[in-house]
Amino acid sequence: MRKSKNLIDSIIQQVEHLPTIPPIVIRVLAMAESPHINAVELSRVMDQSLAAKVLRVANSAYYGGRVCRNVTSLPHAIVLIGFDAVKEIILTTSFFHTLHDAQDILSIQPLWKHSLECALVSKRLAWIYRYPSLDEAYFSGLIHDIGKLIIHQYFPDQQQEIENRKKTIGTLEAEKEILGLTHAEVGAKVANYWHFPETILEVILHHHDQKWQQNAKLGKIIHFSDLFVQGRIDFSSMLKTLSEEGMPYPAIWDSSDLQEVERIIGEELNKALSMFKSTMTLTRQELLVNPIAQNQ
Ligand SMILES: [Fe+2]
Ligand SMILES: [Fe+2]
Repeated sequence: MRKSKNLIDSIIQQVEHLPTIPPIVIRVLAMAESPHINAVELSRVMDQSLAAKVLRVANSAYYGGRVCRNVTSLPHAIVLIGFDAVKEIILTTSFFHTLHDAQDILSIQPLWKHSLECALVSKRLAWIYRYPSLDEAYFSGLIHDIGKLIIHQYFPDQQQEIENRKKTIGTLEAEKEILGLTHAEVGAKVANYWHFPETILEVILHHHDQKWQQNAKLGKIIHFSDLFVQGRIDFSSMLKTLSEEGMPYPAIWDSSDLQEVERIIGEELNKALSMFKSTMTLTRQELLVNPIAQNQ
């Protein structure tokens, strides 16, 4: 028990030493309530590194079907790839970038890939169920396992113990036994430290136990996206279960519509890895180019 108490203290200390998340993330998440903020305004508050990453993604294979030229300025990128896509890139690259400096995150690529996949499926489900902020759904999916990232990066010995122990008692019980906190609880501490909205904090904290109090709709979207991208539920069973939980999909849809949505999700999942790779391999030279200065 003593061991857990010390470990909990050091986890909290570690969380409080994380780099701060760029304020632009909070601005994007608040945009559903502030539609007057536009893409150009957003581009002005991007730091140089983030702007370079947005440009890299705009030039990457992720948008390869739509962009076939060299994009060198942010306004140009915004026009070419669209405002919604830019917001998605901002959320993703800000999140990656914030933790990237802390340690070599390529070593935990499966976790990042899972986060991106969950973000994309969450956004698509949010669209199906008319959730008011697709950005919030995307970001909640992206960040739901942030606690796992922290444990993998900063507590590798305990992570190894958890890997062994979870075979017998399951992941959450193993985390509780070895660390004193589950990855959902660690993630909620990060969300609190980064001053994320209460809704997102709650979604992270309860993405496994489903004990949502404030926003069950977003909670269910993230919970089922998480199960789907892990292959623990198929697409039609997921929609059926959501229907049974009070979230019916649009009545006008037939099975061919559902197949089309499933196909689009599959395509988006393939693109996700390409985007991940392009943001993670940004060269020093690209970071030194100032795309913001080129706009002026
Ligand atoms: Fe999780
Ligand atoms: Fe997950």
